[in-house]
Amino acid sequence: MLRISVLVSGGGTNLQAVIDAVSRGALPDAEIGLVISSRPDAYALERAKQAKIPTAVIAPANYESPSGMSRDMLDALGAAETDLIVLAGYMKVLPPEIIRAYPQRIINIHPSLIPKHCGRGYYGIRVHESVLAAGDAESGATVHYVDEGVDTGEIIVQERVPVLPGDTAGALAARVLEVEHRIVVQAIHTIIENKKKKQEDDEAAMIATIAFMNIM
Ligand code: GAR
Repeated sequence: MLRISVLVSGGGTNLQAVIDAVSRGALPDAEIGLVISSRPDAYALERAKQAKIPTAVIAPANYESPSGMSRDMLDALGAAETDLIVLAGYMKVLPPEIIRAYPQRIINIHPSLIPKHCGRGYYGIRVHESVLAAGDAESGATVHYVDEGVDTGEIIVQERVPVLPGDTAGALAARVLEVEHRIVVQAIHTIIENKKKKQEDDEAAMIATIAFMNIM
């Protein structure tokens, strides 16, 4: 079983896509154990409650120091026995203590074709405004591992989306969002498959070692 904690800040349509994928059996070995929001008023919290998923609000503004926030977040993630953290519209930069505690076990959804239109200051509608201002003919969505940079980790899935004549940032955002909902599920599926494959390889290696020792 892969236990997922989802971090959110807003509407939570990507969270909903993962909830729906788990409930229709598209992610057979996964469950969402916790949703953490950086804002108490995020609609994503309502979606989690409707799906009977435990929630926590960990708002940076409520802490005097980032280390206090990291401690509370690590406690919550640990209590939920988290295997994988999904940043689904999480609009804060995660403190390095969290990233170090979950190496290659945190993924982020970004609404552009990384390495374009990403990094500090590029989030939400600003990303799409930047794409339109640059006059790009296409944009897209990316799911990637989170490392200590901003939007710099290894890419797991990326898909292109055309920019259409007369597009507004809102129209482009909606088109990209549809793709995000699909590729976040695809990325989690890939992670589950890789984990299964690694377990099988480890077991095969163990059996081979035991067989070798029995011959000796
Ligand atoms: C999504 O487009 C997501 O890619 C973006 O915020 C939106 C949240 O939507 N995230 C970022 O820009 C992070 N850098 P949602 O709350 O409906 O899932």
